[in-house]
Amino acid sequence: MSFEFFAPCPRGLEAALAAELAEIASRRLPPGALAVGAEVPGGVHLRGNWAGGMAANLHSRIASRVLLKIAQGPYRSEQDIYTLAAGQRWEQWFTANETLRVDITAIKSPLRSLEFATLRVKDGICDRMRSKAGARPSIDTAYPDVRVFAFLTAGDCTLYLDTSGEPLFKRGWRLDKGAAPLRENLAAGILRITGWTPGTPLYDPMCGSGTFLAEAAQVALDIAPGLDRSFGFERLKQFDSAAWRHLKSEANTARNTAQSRSHHDLLIFGSDISDVMLEKARANFKRAGLGNVPLKQLDARNMTPPADAPGILVANPPYGERIEVRGRNARGEARPTARELRGEDNGDEGFRRAQTQDDAPDSEFFQALGDALKQRFTGWRAFVLTSDRKLPGQLRLRESAKTPLYNGALECRLFRFDLIAGSVRQRPANGGSTPANENA
Ligand SMILES: C[S@@+](CC[C@H](N)C(=O)[O-])C[C@H]1O[C@@H](n2cnc3c(N)ncnc32)[C@H](O)[C@@H]1O
Repeated sequence: MSFEFFAPCPRGLEAALAAELAEIASRRLPPGALAVGAEVPGGVHLRGNWAGGMAANLHSRIASRVLLKIAQGPYRSEQDIYTLAAGQRWEQWFTANETLRVDITAIKSPLRSLEFATLRVKDGICDRMRSKAGARPSIDTAYPDVRVFAFLTAGDCTLYLDTSGEPLFKRGWRLDKGAAPLRENLAAGILRITGWTPGTPLYDPMCGSGTFLAEAAQVALDIAPGLDRSFGFERLKQFDSAAWRHLKSEANTARNTAQSRSHHDLLIFGSDISDVMLEKARANFKRAGLGNVPLKQLDARNMTPPADAPGILVANPPYGERIEVRGRNARGEARPTARELRGEDNGDEGFRRAQTQDDAPDSEFFQALGDALKQRFTGWRAFVLTSDRKLPGQLRLRESAKTPLYNGALECRLFRFDLIAGSVRQRPANGGSTPANENA
């Protein structure tokens, strides 16, 4: 039996997700189990059988969820949405004993209250269950057994049953995070955009809790991102436990095979100025089953290539609204943070929030970082994720490409700098504009 699925992802990663899903279909599944359809803003359509949907959950590092399409129909009012929801055979999928949560996303919907529309979807499902199963599910917004997503456009409503449960970026190993960690699926998508493959040196000089490094090490060790967690589909009536056991056993075999082969160095390296963050990263790696990722406490301005061969440097430096650059300025003075200046810093986070615009040492930091890249990282390609469009000017480097990406609601750019021998493209300190590829 074939189903339609939709895999949402952070905006900007649709092409990376489509490529990843095509790879999952060809490497992990028999022909015909999963076919990748259209990329649309915010996700990718899929068609496949139940094993295909489960494999997408187990193996996708970039998708946020895998949603199963239940129905689609035109609407003009909340009543139309109620009728669509009440007309579906929900009793095929779950019982009235399961708890339920409904979420709505809308683009250009004419409805005044999405909250009311959400209630109408919930009423439709509950009324249907009461009439067919004699009882209705109760609502649990915190830990529901079953989630239904409604997606509204100007005139169409699509109802999806979630097969993932907790969002897929929750891999099950992260307990220790800093105040501004990257989501795992954003980090995984960025790694794919960089073109990094296992065996090429990878370095994150501001690694924080280690998200890029953990994602890369899991790729290198062929560890399926969903191996250590449970999924929403396990609670659905259609759950095919034999097919699921088979998929998991193959994923376990792949991990064991990769681990027995990988006595060599992974060539994945990290550093950060904060020992507190490095401790968090180490604890995360341990829980994720990753040894062998060397970490160093270091100011990024003093970084040197951690491997003999050139590789890929990837980082999301502290940026304005979220956290501050730390370290000493050119005169060797430790920089007081904005919170320290306000007497608010309790010093326990490893890095600090809030940044004032006229905090000049930031540009000093980025200029020194740019110098380090130019002088010491010849042959490397550097990828920097930031919400600050002026970053190339601050680094005094000219980007080779920039990709718009969203880190939650924050619009960012992933800048690529090719640090080719003798041709590092410098840009003037005033940050004059450059003709760069916009990989939208
Ligand atoms: C946005 S966070 C990186 C988050 C990381 N990608 C993660 O997923 O946890 C920026 C990191 O830069 C570090 N940092 C700040 N100033 C630094 C400096 N001068 N040198 C090296 N690291 C620095 C902070 O300690 C913080 O961990």
